[in-house]
Amino acid sequence: MDKRSELSFDEYDERVHPRPDECEFDRVVEASLSRRQLLKGVLAVGTVATLGSFAVPQHARAAASRFAFASVPANTLDAITVPQGYVAQVVARWGDPLWSEGVEFDHATRGTGKDQEMAFGDNIDGMDVFSHDGHTLLVVNNEYTNRSIIWGNREEGLAETDDDVLKGKMAHGLTVVEIADTDGVWSIVKDSPFNRRVTPDTEMEITGPAAGHDLMKTAADPTGTVALGTWNNCGNGSTPWGTYLACEENFNGYFSADDEEHEVSAELQRYGVSAEDWGYGWARIDDRFNVEKNPNEPNRAGYVVELDPSDPESTPKKRTALGRFKHENAEMVINGDGRVVVYLGDDERGEFLYRYISNGVYAPGGETDSLLEDGKLYAAKFHDTGAGEWLELSPENTGMASMSEVCIHTRIAASAVGATTMDRPEWVAANPSAPEIYVALTNNKNRGIKPNAGGDLTPVGGPNPREANLYGQVVRWRPNGGDHTSAGFAWDIYVLAGNPTVATGLNAGSDNLSEENMFNSPDGLKFDSNGMLWIQTDGNYSNADEFAGHGNNQMLAADPRTGEIQRFLVGPNECEITGLTWSADKRTMFVGVQHPGEDGNSHWPEGGDAVPRSAVVAIRRDDGAIVG
Ligand code: FEO
Ligand code: CA
Ligand code: CA
Repeated sequence: MDKRSELSFDEYDERVHPRPDECEFDRVVEASLSRRQLLKGVLAVGTVATLGSFAVPQHARAAASRFAFASVPANTLDAITVPQGYVAQVVARWGDPLWSEGVEFDHATRGTGKDQEMAFGDNIDGMDVFSHDGHTLLVVNNEYTNRSIIWGNREEGLAETDDDVLKGKMAHGLTVVEIADTDGVWSIVKDSPFNRRVTPDTEMEITGPAAGHDLMKTAADPTGTVALGTWNNCGNGSTPWGTYLACEENFNGYFSADDEEHEVSAELQRYGVSAEDWGYGWARIDDRFNVEKNPNEPNRAGYVVELDPSDPESTPKKRTALGRFKHENAEMVINGDGRVVVYLGDDERGEFLYRYISNGVYAPGGETDSLLEDGKLYAAKFHDTGAGEWLELSPENTGMASMSEVCIHTRIAASAVGATTMDRPEWVAANPSAPEIYVALTNNKNRGIKPNAGGDLTPVGGPNPREANLYGQVVRWRPNGGDHTSAGFAWDIYVLAGNPTVATGLNAGSDNLSEENMFNSPDGLKFDSNGMLWIQTDGNYSNADEFAGHGNNQMLAADPRTGEIQRFLVGPNECEITGLTWSADKRTMFVGVQHPGEDGNSHWPEGGDAVPRSAVVAIRRDDGAIVG
């Protein structure tokens, strides 16, 4: 069996582009930190005058609980577990047809390429619900597909035919589907005029500074303005003008070359592109993915894509002004002066956190097309003092020839200005009740051990306080003066994930963790309309050793004011929980379950001998009360 099919994206990246071992670190910060000292440091940040009640002493939390549910214990059941008084229901699964002419999912064959193009995509990640003229439109990222599952009908668990490859390709992209609540059950509205699959072949317009640059031109598109498709869309965002933002993450793993020795440019290496793909074989059926023949094609991926779900004929737009990297999500806030601010993470070990600020201002009903085309891009630098600053990625600061190059080689630009290497920035979430932003730093086994893909050191300290970070943390910051366009901010650590039952020191986690709510690898983050922060995990589900008692991946609710965290949901075996949104009336919460059974040990949601299928789950209270 091809070993690539067993590698995570991160392991694959490091195999095709090994990082040199690092041994010149200043480990003073790490050596001087104990769990107690770290927390004292965190609380000390709260004494800065501009922070107000930023860091609330943990003893204050007991009296202030805002949770409406009883905590769910960790478990390893092949099921969705929700609190007493709540009910969960599957809404849409990988392979469910969106049109009557589509074919119901076939567990024996997993269908054909054509069937998949007519059906809900695989591995759900970011999602949002839009209300349009009385219709409820669910938009979902279908990030990738597990080769061992989609090709599990083949003896070797690998693609045998060109149609197998096409099926895998069509399982990627986005699904737009109308859903309806009939007598308390949400389901797909087949044949809705809004239903749409956006695949790796859908025509897109390239907008912003990179549009038309020589690095964006290919033989098929000499203008450098028309790209085909989007794939590996991880987290998402949405705009107040009714559009959806899909974020291209591990786009590199789909390119390959006939010659296994083929060397790609240093710029492409920074993004993990190589002669070897991640096992999908797209170049076999589509020359665009042959990097030897089309060396500029990878420059046309790694962006945020804006989609109008209300118009199924609309052309999605790649927003290059928001930079090119392994985008997690795109969290938009409208600043006090009307400018659009988007916070963005680059999910790879030792990569950076970014901010985009539009030059124009948002006005309801006004022109919005330029807001994500014309603006400034920044990368974050964190200081150990609890202060931080945004470093502008301009041609002057980066030494690059133009903003086009900054927007194509954004990682290299951020390295040039000396931004802080982070422990894999996943979702960013803005508190609707305060000018305060949270980011999930999921984990980083290379922290303090190896540099990032660009050779930048990854010293232990600041917001990344643990060497070989196993568990991850949630870091938050407040922009100076409550202004999201400020040059500076103040930060602290909201929760340091860990395991207080088996570990000591920093690996026990921060004081707001206990045996009852411990978890690892925070990934999805989203605030609800009540100002409660939801944390979703994509971590180690072995439930053993350092992870004993953590159980399956899960979703927790967190009170930003008190630091209190409580487990709300546990997912089925070998899944991650990702994607979260609510119905317009806030009485249903939609949660994504991605890659159940990625190692062969789940039959969720259908049970028996069924093929495991990524699915969107609707969760409500028995009493019909609001759930967020
Ligand atoms: Fe697709 Fe960073 O997770
Ligand atoms: Ca993620
Ligand atoms: Ca993750």
